[in-house]
Order: sequence, then structure tokens, then C-alpha cells
Amino acid sequence: MKGSGKSTATNESGQTGTDWRMLRRLFGYIAVHKRLFIVALALYPIDALTVVAPPYLVRQILDVAIPGADLELLRRLALVYVVALAVEYGAGFASQMAMSVLGQRSVMTLRADLFRHVQKLPAAFFDRQPVGRVLTRLTNDVEALGDVFATGAVTVIGDLVTLAALIGMMLWLDVRLTLFAFLVAPPLLVLMAVFRNYARKAFRAIRRHLAAINTYLNEHIAGMSVVQVFRQQERSEQEFVALSRGYRDANRTAIQFDALLYAVVEAIGTAAIAALIWYGAVDLSTGAVGAGTFVAFIQYVRRFFVPIRDLSMKYTIIQAALVAAERCLQLLDEKIVIESPLSPQPVARVRESIELRGVWFAYNEPVDSAGWILRDLNVCVRKGERVALVGATGSGKTTILKLLNRSYDVQKGSVCVDGVDIRRLNLGDLRRLFAVVMQDVHLFTGTVMDNLALTDTVTEEAIRGAARAVRAESFLLRLPAGYDTPVQELAKNFSAGERQLLAFARALALDPEILILDEATSNVDSETEAHIEAAVELLMRGRTAIIVAHRLSTIQRVDRILVLQHGAVVEEGDHRELMRRGGVYHRLVELQFK
Ligand SMILES: Nc1ncnc2c1ncn2[C@@H]1O[C@H](COP(=O)(O)OP(=O)(O)O)[C@@H](O)[C@H]1O
Ligand SMILES: [Mg+2]
Repeated sequence: MKGSGKSTATNESGQTGTDWRMLRRLFGYIAVHKRLFIVALALYPIDALTVVAPPYLVRQILDVAIPGADLELLRRLALVYVVALAVEYGAGFASQMAMSVLGQRSVMTLRADLFRHVQKLPAAFFDRQPVGRVLTRLTNDVEALGDVFATGAVTVIGDLVTLAALIGMMLWLDVRLTLFAFLVAPPLLVLMAVFRNYARKAFRAIRRHLAAINTYLNEHIAGMSVVQVFRQQERSEQEFVALSRGYRDANRTAIQFDALLYAVVEAIGTAAIAALIWYGAVDLSTGAVGAGTFVAFIQYVRRFFVPIRDLSMKYTIIQAALVAAERCLQLLDEKIVIESPLSPQPVARVRESIELRGVWFAYNEPVDSAGWILRDLNVCVRKGERVALVGATGSGKTTILKLLNRSYDVQKGSVCVDGVDIRRLNLGDLRRLFAVVMQDVHLFTGTVMDNLALTDTVTEEAIRGAARAVRAESFLLRLPAGYDTPVQELAKNFSAGERQLLAFARALALDPEILILDEATSNVDSETEAHIEAAVELLMRGRTAIIVAHRLSTIQRVDRILVLQHGAVVEEGDHRELMRRGGVYHRLVELQFK
């Protein structure tokens, strides 16, 4: 059940094995709450028995008590009738409660499992999957599963027990009448099988459309300012309405099936009763069947079609849930490609070097010859060395940084720490070596302090020290609540430069062994620029640093510069050497600073 990373045969149409296998997996989530499950189950036989009782009591009244003018028996039967009804409704209430609570608990376990799994998925997964789609699986799809419990659809087991009890009673009362009434069963079963197919397709379409809507909304609400500035509201609206229309149509199809099935079952049930009255009238007139038995029988048939009708309705809910479950389980089956090996090698420090050896890397698989972002790249950074990566946009600088902490794994060659392939190291250990400051700083909602203290190993003192050192404190203390100032979603209440400084403080507070920095080129005022320069200098001091550098001031200070072109190192050396050489680097610098 747990996200073990095992994969199953999943295909594009969204089917995960058979319903049966899926149900078994889902049952695992229910089984966790054993006691509640047993309580809910235990209530079914009571429920079933009480459904069977009233018609039988009616028969006793009509065929025994009244003909015999037995007032005492009549009174007793009436009392039992009342008690039977009370127990029926009481048990119904209790089992519904137990099931709903069970459902909510199971669904919550599933949701937590999903989230845990999603947290382990590699960056490549999130490149491929729109946020909205993942979001839909964790919210709406899980909710649809919860509906199965909330609506009592899961009580189909109870319905089946009830049906069995009813059939038993009917057979006991009159075998011939029972067989006659069940002539309608074969067409009913065929009908339900046909519907099953169509309903499932319709529900798949619903989930797909819902995910598309969520994806679209997510993207467009986050990017609303772009939509507005580029005056794209009308186009967005049209696109959104088109998506909505798709969703509506998918729903209409499903509703049609639902209504049709309900109506058809109802009609067949009524037809069965009519036929029974027509057929049974003969027996009744000849006295072969007692009036009480006949009335009881008709009541049984009527009661019989209630669970059948419910079943058809529950069936559609279950169909919807199975489709949702399919999608949830698919997400759980998504492979965790990047994880610690079974017997990982621990690392606490870097002793000598971190190295890329003959690295070939592509984001998209399968890779065609144009897909390689890095081609046979060899880079060795010795401990304590500061290396800058320089190159045109798209030359692969950021990509190299992402390979160091296994955000992505290389396809060929290896990344090594002290000569050991990082895929053989403990992933947590590896990532602890680095402090990473990427171009787009992500801050979470919460306070500034929460954001600076993302790992629980840093002390508040270290954080304040770091903030002071990178000169973030001066602007932080100007804020009304200082370190406790809330960070809004996407940190909109901080400027790009301020966000950068906060990210520096976060990195420095960790006092990392290796600094990874993707220098932002965002335009900041010259004072902030000076701050950032000083902060970068401070961050690099006394540690191994691998940075993507844009600022001349930063570049001049590093030990070695690697000039990248199309994923390969074309020049290497310090600033002066490379300037003297008059090659690619020289041209880059000229372009940038002239
Ligand atoms: N997540 C991704 N999925 C697919 N392609 C990517 C992804 N990130 C970057 N690329 C591609 O890889 C190439 C190198 O990107 P990057 O390393 O970010 O360049 P740089 O940082 O030097 O500007 C670019 O051509 C870019 O289109
Ligand atoms: Mg980049």
C-alpha cells in the first residue's frame, strides 16, 4: 500500500489492472480501521433481518390472527411490527454512521499516502505533470472515493445480504411465484452490464475534464497579471468556457445513464409486480395461496426492487469512485526514480572533490540526438575551490547545478563525490552537503523566520547572524513585524532583490559545505546590487562554491571559470587568462560590459 515505488502496468487510457485488483488495494485502506469496519459489517445482518420481517408479520396477521379472531396474537404481532421497524431504522442509522466515519478515515489515510508519495517524486515528474492535474488527484479524486462511503454506496454488501434474505423468504413462501417473479432477472442483469461499460467511460471523461479545468485555472489565476497586462481576458474566457462546456457535456452523459438506469429498473420492478398480480390472481381465487401470503409476497417483490434500484444508483457512484481510485492509484504507482540505494554509503563531508565524469544528460526520454543538453561533460571541482559557470542562455548552466544534488539523474557517465557515484550515496546526506540558491526564489506562506528556518537543525541565532551578514537584516528590521512579517503567497510582498537576500540568508544559516548558486540577473537598484555582491562574496568565503555567474564582480573573484556552449566546456581558466585568450569568454564579457 505504501509508496514503495513499485510500478504496475498502467497505460494511457488510465486503466490500472482489473477492478478486482484495485478493490483489493483500496480495501487495504479500509482494513487499517479494523474495529470500525467490523462494527459496520456486524450491523448488516440486523438490517437485513428487519427488512424481511414486516411482510411476514403482515402474512401472520392476515392468514392466522384475523381468521382465528385471536386478539392476543394480533396485539403481539403489532408490537413486534413496531419493534422491527424501530430496529430497522436504528440499525440503518448506525451502519450509515459507522460507514461514513470509516470512509472519511480511510480517505484521509489515502490522501496522506498520496502526498507522501508525491513528495518523493523526482523533478522530471513535475516537469511532465501540470500542477492542476496532481492537485485534482489529491482533492477531487480522493473526494469522489469518499462519496462512496458518504452516500452509503459501500453498503452494497448490505444490500446483497438483504437481497439474499428476501429471496430466501420468498422461496420459503412460494417457490412457483418466486420463479415467476424472477423471470425479469436476466434482462435486468444484461442491462446493468451494458450500462456499466458506458457509465465508466462517461466518468473517466468527467475526471479528465475536471483536471483540465483545474490545471487551466491554476495557471491563469497565478498568471493573472500577465493575462491582464497583455489584455488576454477575452481569449482566456473563451478557452475557459470551452473547457467548462466539455465538463458539462461529460456530466450530462453520465447523468443520462444514471437517470435511464434508475427509470428502467423502476419500470421492470413495476412490471414484475403487475405480472405477479395477474398470474397469482388465479391461485388466489382457487384458494391455493392464502391472501396473507399473496400480500406478503407482493411486499417482498416491492422490497426486493428497492435495493436493486439503490444498487443501480450506488453503482454509478461506485463507477465514478472506481475511476477516481484508478487515478489515485496511478499516482501512487508513479515511480520514485530518485531515491537512496538499498545500502547507501553515508557521507558527512567532501574530502577531495565533486566531479562530473563523462556526463550525458537530457530532460526528455527517449532521447534523440538533438535532445542532449549536456554532452560528455567533464568537470572537477576540488574542495575549497570556487568555480563559476558562464555561458549563453540555454547553454546548460542551471542544468549542471541540478545534477549535483540529484534533482535529475544523468543518463550516461556519473556525478561523483570523492570518486563515489552520488547514486550510491544516501540521498539525504548528499543533499545536506549543499545549500542551494536558485534563480527563482520560492518562499512559503508563513513568517520570514519560518522561511529562513526551513530545516530544524538551524538555530534562530544562526539565522539572525546569517541575515545580518548578507545585509538582509537592515530591510527586515524596517518591516513592521520584523522577522515575524508574514510572507504572502509567492512572496509578492517582497521585491526580487529582497527575496534574493532572504534566500542567501537561508543558505548561509545552514553553513553548508558546498554552495550552489544560480545568480539572478534581475535588475535591482545599485545599492541592492552592492548588497548582493557583498552577500555572494560572503557566502563563498571558505567553502566550495559552484555558481552560475553573470556579474563581472563575482566572476573576477572565483578561482576558475568554465565557459559553456551547447552543454560542453569550451574554455577554462581564470578571468585574466580567459580575457588574454580573446575567445568566447572575451566576447561574452565585451558584449555584456561595453
Ligand atoms: N525542465 C526542463 N525540461 C525540459 N527542458 C529543459 C528543462 N529545463 C531546461 N531545459 C532545456 O535545457 C537547456 C539548458 O537549460 P538551462 O540549463 O536552464 O540553461 P541556462 O541555465 O544555461 O540558461 C535549455 O535549452 C532548456 O530549454
Ligand atoms: Mg539558468
